[in-house]
Amino acid sequence: MLSLYNAILCISVENVQLMILTPKINSKTLYLRLLNYVIPYWLIFGLAILAIVVMAIADPILAALIQPLLDGGFVEKDPMMIKLMPIFLILLILIKGLSMLASTISMTWIASRLVTDLRIEMFNKILTLPTCEFDKTSSGVMLSKVTYDVSRVMAAATDVLLILVRDSLAILGLLAWMFYLNWMLSLIVFTIVPFIIIVVRIVSKLLRSINTSIQDAMGDVTKIVEEAIGGHKLVKIFAGQQYEQNRFQTACNQVRHLEVKTQVTSGISVFIVQMLTALSLSIIIYIAALQSSMDNITVGGFVSLFTAMGMLFSPVKRLTKVNDKLQQGLAAAQSVFNLIDQESELEANNLINKDKLLGKLEFRQLSFSYEEHLALHNISLTILPGETVALVGASGSGKTTLANLIPHFYTITDGQLWLDNIDINQLPLKNLRNNIALVSQEVVLFNDTVAANIAYGTMANVSQADILKAAKLAYAMEFIEQMPKGLSTIIGERGVKLSGGQRQRLAIARALLKNAPILIFDEATSALDTQSEYKIQQSLEQLKQGRTTIIIAHRLSTISKADHIVVMDKGRIVEVGQHDELMAKQGVYAKLYQIQASIVKI
Ligand SMILES: Nc1ncnc2c1ncn2[C@@H]1O[C@H](COP(=O)(O)OP(=O)(O)O)[C@@H](O)[C@H]1O
Ligand SMILES: [Mg+2]
Repeated sequence: MLSLYNAILCISVENVQLMILTPKINSKTLYLRLLNYVIPYWLIFGLAILAIVVMAIADPILAALIQPLLDGGFVEKDPMMIKLMPIFLILLILIKGLSMLASTISMTWIASRLVTDLRIEMFNKILTLPTCEFDKTSSGVMLSKVTYDVSRVMAAATDVLLILVRDSLAILGLLAWMFYLNWMLSLIVFTIVPFIIIVVRIVSKLLRSINTSIQDAMGDVTKIVEEAIGGHKLVKIFAGQQYEQNRFQTACNQVRHLEVKTQVTSGISVFIVQMLTALSLSIIIYIAALQSSMDNITVGGFVSLFTAMGMLFSPVKRLTKVNDKLQQGLAAAQSVFNLIDQESELEANNLINKDKLLGKLEFRQLSFSYEEHLALHNISLTILPGETVALVGASGSGKTTLANLIPHFYTITDGQLWLDNIDINQLPLKNLRNNIALVSQEVVLFNDTVAANIAYGTMANVSQADILKAAKLAYAMEFIEQMPKGLSTIIGERGVKLSGGQRQRLAIARALLKNAPILIFDEATSALDTQSEYKIQQSLEQLKQGRTTIIIAHRLSTISKADHIVVMDKGRIVEVGQHDELMAKQGVYAKLYQIQASIVKI
């Protein structure tokens, strides 16, 4: 009976927690949406449900078997019964075991499929998200969605399904059996049990509030001791002992009082529950005995009824917990679907496809803001095909932002950018980006071979000879040759084994291999020593022929040969011209150049 009490206590405590924890989510749409993912696997899903149903029915049957087992085998000593019973039992356990196995295997199979499907969908979505989404969401958040949240959805979904189908069926079956066996006894049981649950619930609520008060009171005690220790000099000099003693005694007494109260409350509750169960038990036994004398219930029936009652507790307990699991799963599902539902990069309806672009760039009164922050103001600039333009300016002046607008990483907020006399918004993203080679400020390398890193993406089928040529042009072969397997060496996570300069050279080789009409170098040689930078400059000189090249560089000596030097400051173009012109002008560029030159001299 005490285990009965414990079981009830568990139920009620969890119920109380549930009421506090449950967040509001539009569960129905989410659940239906999840169910959509099951449709392709409906056959296996059906099999799983069938197995669960069989498993659920086994419990009531087991309880029901007890009656003929006891009455037939032990009371009447029926030889047929004695022979058949063990076979029945073994068969039943066998069927239950097999269906359990089948349900576990099929559910795991489906769950793993769904996790994989969702993960792939999420990853595909991540690949198409606009750049501004990556600025807003930390990679950690996306990472945990793809790894943790997806598996949490599936764990909860399978658990919930299992509990909802198996346990509710088992409960129904057991109840049906109990009422069939003896409705009067069952009714008595079910009128008394709710009483016990209510008592336990009230008591557990009370206990919880007392426990919180004990924690608070204990907090007071420690605070007083801490203060007395920390302020011992103050206590001494102002003779605060009496004050501290009084404070401490009051706090200690408070704790003692609450502790006694807890023990008394829980003691009384155990007493009440025991009395209630004893009372109900005696009523049940009395009525059972009365009925048995009227041949309404047999020994087997009585034991079977009690077995069924005992078997009810675990499924009832799980069923009361199911909402908790459901909400956890739905919260995770919400997070997963939030990612899946994000808008991919938008493309205009009236797209103009032009496979090979020449590389004429026109910025027309272009402004751009990141959220609230205005990063580019009224930029007007024309770059003809084959020209080399250098962007210079202090860090934060908007050089990278300007370069990032050319591959349409961000959508222009005001003004226009035209490429080969087509508004950039009308060029298909794939088409546009195929025509641009970019070496960005942060070099990204993948955990693959050196060759695969150079021939990335659409260049995957490029010949080894071309890769070698690009690597040579970027002065990367010097160090690749030193690697154990040359171009076939695996680089390792994010290329951590390489120096900054080596990484930059690989990125340059990658850009050179792409052979695109527009080249963008965003501080691509900043981590190189002067000698390597000079060499790369030489190869760039050849490469720049016939391509539109945009170079962002800190070291002004490297860009003096550019067709135009565009000087930026706080998101505006402040000067445009060739090196000599700008030097003669004695403006911002000349000042920057003189400062750098003087540093080099020192
Ligand atoms: N992803 C971003 N989100 C919000 N603000 C940004 C972002 N990138 C750059 N900025 C801001 O825009 C301005 C220009 O930055 P950037 O183009 O990187 O300058 P530069 O490349 O010249 O150093 C800076 O004030 C910077 O803080
Ligand atoms: Mg920059």
